[in-house]
Amino acid sequence: MAFDAPDSMSVRMPLEEWFDRYQYAVTSNIGESAVTSLSLADLPLSAEELWKLPLRYGHHQGLPELRAAIAAHYPGLTAEDIVVTAGAGEAIVVLATVLLNGRSRAVVEHPTYPTLYLVPRSRGASVELLRLRPDRQWRPDLEEVRASLAGGAEFFAITHPNNPTGSMISEAELRSVVAIARDAGVRLVSDETYGLMTEGEPLPPAACLDERAVSISTMSKTFGLPGIRIGWIACRDRELVRRLVACREHITITNNVLGEYIALQVQRDPGPFVARARARVAGNRTVVADVVRRHPRLGWVPPSAGVVALPWIVDATDEQAEQVYRNLAENRGTFVVPASGFELPGRYFRVGFGGEPHQLRAGLGHLVAELDALS
Ligand SMILES: Cc1ncc(COP(=O)(O)O)c(C=O)c1O
Repeated sequence: MAFDAPDSMSVRMPLEEWFDRYQYAVTSNIGESAVTSLSLADLPLSAEELWKLPLRYGHHQGLPELRAAIAAHYPGLTAEDIVVTAGAGEAIVVLATVLLNGRSRAVVEHPTYPTLYLVPRSRGASVELLRLRPDRQWRPDLEEVRASLAGGAEFFAITHPNNPTGSMISEAELRSVVAIARDAGVRLVSDETYGLMTEGEPLPPAACLDERAVSISTMSKTFGLPGIRIGWIACRDRELVRRLVACREHITITNNVLGEYIALQVQRDPGPFVARARARVAGNRTVVADVVRRHPRLGWVPPSAGVVALPWIVDATDEQAEQVYRNLAENRGTFVVPASGFELPGRYFRVGFGGEPHQLRAGLGHLVAELDALS
């Protein structure tokens, strides 16, 4: 049987392939973009209720009580405006599937989580990457946004706090982006996966600022529950909601009911979980900052929010840098994420600071040793 050239969904995503190869083999994961995972013992669960939970198919749009608990954090939205998905990952796939085809145009802020541009590409859409640059603190230029959207598009994706750079935009800038997209008739898809990991007030969700805008979020990062695979889409456009449910009926049909049950217990009172994540990243960020600022081989734009940052090795070639990341994983049990997985030059790499402080210190020590050994 003959296959055409592989499209972006039939080759493995380099970022996730790297995770799959090394994340269970290392002792210091300083690349992960989530706070340390919780276990059932850490959650406000009734063991008896959990034991008796019927393991039947769930509701296709998501457990109604969970949708209501999520909607409570989106002023102006109701449970009907929420679609629960298998993580933010599935949320992006169903959105791109529903919104894009071979005649569509997508504009995607870059760098970002690769699914946001790889799935649009695989739909045959023409994808323009709106480049964030270190000399602008990895923040979007509103005039560039305006110019890109002037050509029209069916999908415009932004991610702040950003993965992998840790960049942020102000509320005023977000409101301008929403207005620019609205005036251009372009659907804004705001990936708010890291939205709660801010020092001050989080940004308002885009779905609360515009009828057609879409917000995406997840239990994976702030809540430390990636293994339950629960995320969601929030949007007031009911026709889009209907189409999203129709699409996901071909993928996962419903969510896994155990995951929905666990997410519900957390979403009923998320405050303590958010506080835990914020305290963790605030403490760890200063540890990373200390190492990056002191090391002559490292440069960076300090992260403004979220749980990751994107330093670079100032005096290495991309190949030498890639060797550093492999040495770290294979010889020193330390995991960072090469930025080549984000379609960026190899001298950039992602560090994540949501993990255990002692692991972070050990991993950073190994990074320094590896950099010092570079000729
Ligand atoms: C911006 C962003 N969106 C989506 C995802 C997918 O997350 P999940 O499917 O675990 O919710 C990630 C994971 O790293 C991410 O960084």
